[in-house]
Amino acid sequence: MSRQIIVGNWKMNGLTADSAERARTIAAGLPAGSSAEVVICPPFTQLAALASIVKDTRVGLGAQNCHKDEKGAHTGDISPQMLTDLGVSYVILGHSERRQNHGEIDETVREKAVAATKAGLTPIVCIGETEDQRQSGETQNTLGWQIKGSLPDGFSGILAYEPIWAIGTGLAATPDDIRETLSFLRAELIRQFGETGKSISILYGGSVSADNAAEILAIQDVGGALVGGASLKPDAFLSIVRAASAG
Ligand code: PGA
Repeated sequence: MSRQIIVGNWKMNGLTADSAERARTIAAGLPAGSSAEVVICPPFTQLAALASIVKDTRVGLGAQNCHKDEKGAHTGDISPQMLTDLGVSYVILGHSERRQNHGEIDETVREKAVAATKAGLTPIVCIGETEDQRQSGETQNTLGWQIKGSLPDGFSGILAYEPIWAIGTGLAATPDDIRETLSFLRAELIRQFGETGKSISILYGGSVSADNAAEILAIQDVGGALVGGASLKPDAFLSIVRAASAG
């Protein structure tokens, strides 16, 4: 398996001084010889400050969104080129909070993934079913369509499977559920993308914590974790990183 990647999605939390301190603590606490790739995704306004903090460390920097265009009349938006300009390497796209609260649909996400890749960013594209879809047995159908709609042809980024009902609830999917869904996702990636579908990393996200990380990261084909709440606590986040190293 390729290196596992642990991504911290800080969402809309923290002011610059706190975030800088958190980034320093994470960089200083990374286990020596860790094989995991570690990425933090702070709010846009903190990217510049954090870029200089993580510059010569093993911590990578990601953003939580970007626009599909390079420039233009898009008030309040940030282009992929503006991110690479700051030293950002990754961008989370199509997070369920963007899909639900900002009307992003698969097509929006796919266009952003194309633009991000063109700018040199690695897109982390999120998909996931709602509780209703899960209850009505629509999980695989939903995810299959999201892959088809959100990932562009020739996609070479990262896929994050985040069941919406597991985000921020403290109720992660069970290892059996993750195993089953991941094997479906892998088959679907191969069906839709052929050979390249074999090498796309699939992260799990949704209430990953210091307590459940080892079990989740040990599951066959889990390429890492997308971590929300626990990524705001350096101790918890570093425990998750250690679990990846051991996995
Ligand atoms: P959570 O969030 O770890 O707090 O559940 C995950 C995410 O939204 O990416």
